[in-house]
Amino acid sequence: MKEKILKILSETENKLSSVKTLSEVEDVKAKTIGRKGSITALSRDMGKLSKEERPEAGKALNMAKTRITELINGTKLKLEETNTCSTSDIDVTLPGRMWPTGKKHPITQTIDDCVEIFRRIGFVVAEGPDIETVYHCFDALNTPEHHPSRDESDTFYFKDGRLLRTQTSTVQIRVMEKEDPPIRIIAPGPCFRPDTPDASHSANFHQIEGLYIDKDVSLADLKSTLLYFAKELLGEDVKIRFRPHFFPFTEPSIEYDFSCTACKGKGCGLCKYSGWLEISGAGMVDPNVLKSVGYDPETWTGFAWGMGIERIAMIRHSINDIRYFYDNDLRFLNQF
Ligand code: DAH
Repeated sequence: MKEKILKILSETENKLSSVKTLSEVEDVKAKTIGRKGSITALSRDMGKLSKEERPEAGKALNMAKTRITELINGTKLKLEETNTCSTSDIDVTLPGRMWPTGKKHPITQTIDDCVEIFRRIGFVVAEGPDIETVYHCFDALNTPEHHPSRDESDTFYFKDGRLLRTQTSTVQIRVMEKEDPPIRIIAPGPCFRPDTPDASHSANFHQIEGLYIDKDVSLADLKSTLLYFAKELLGEDVKIRFRPHFFPFTEPSIEYDFSCTACKGKGCGLCKYSGWLEISGAGMVDPNVLKSVGYDPETWTGFAWGMGIERIAMIRHSINDIRYFYDNDLRFLNQF
């Protein structure tokens, strides 16, 4: 019995010294101390031995089991540490695991693209707070006391009199208060109005404001800036047009349209058969606004414009309902 045990022990040592995978180690274990293993079989044979032979054989078997267990554990540890696994354990034909990656929201993408376009002609990004004073949102922007935009039905007010800005035009004032002309800024950001959500309205939307102040600035400069932007964003063929309008902070004021991207101006469902897509408002900065920030309107002139970011994104991607942007439905968002 002793010889048999010693033989198994040396064979096991030999095998374990050359194994390369954990499954080979498990195999050695099964063939020695496992239920059908050689050592286990010898234990069962103990009954066949004489009373005198049994203690010694039992001792030898126990020692062998302990030694083999130690050897197996040591070998496993070594394999795990060196992380050795044979190529047969790796199925190189299996497809890799795909980790879903996040991406920018289409509104953020549109903001980034618009900023990039204006940056190329020297505009820098400016910021202002979402929670604003009545002064920055209306008074300094030359908005008369009883202008409807100040109504509670059009503006969210806090109890302390402050408000959620209804337009990024507030940033014009914030920047001019801090800096001397010349000024060339764009200000993207959220705006808030108590609108009931529908296909084209949201109580929380985004605008980009632009402001250019320098000497001898004219309406032609405004037009060429907006035309440059439209072409960069939508392609060389796009046309723009100005329509007279009224805003308290610009004089003259205009609304501007881009020619319809879907029908190239011929008339279709997107442009309501007019050939034009309304974008937003703009104009020459009113002298009263310049005065409110301490600029001399005799020296400084400028233009300003706003644009709805959702509107731009809807035109670019042919989206017909603004609410898609806020539903956070991945089936929608993954398309951008
Ligand atoms: N603030 C205006 C709005 O929300 C848009 C606008 C019009 C901005 C004329 C301007 C501007 O800077 O000059 O409807």
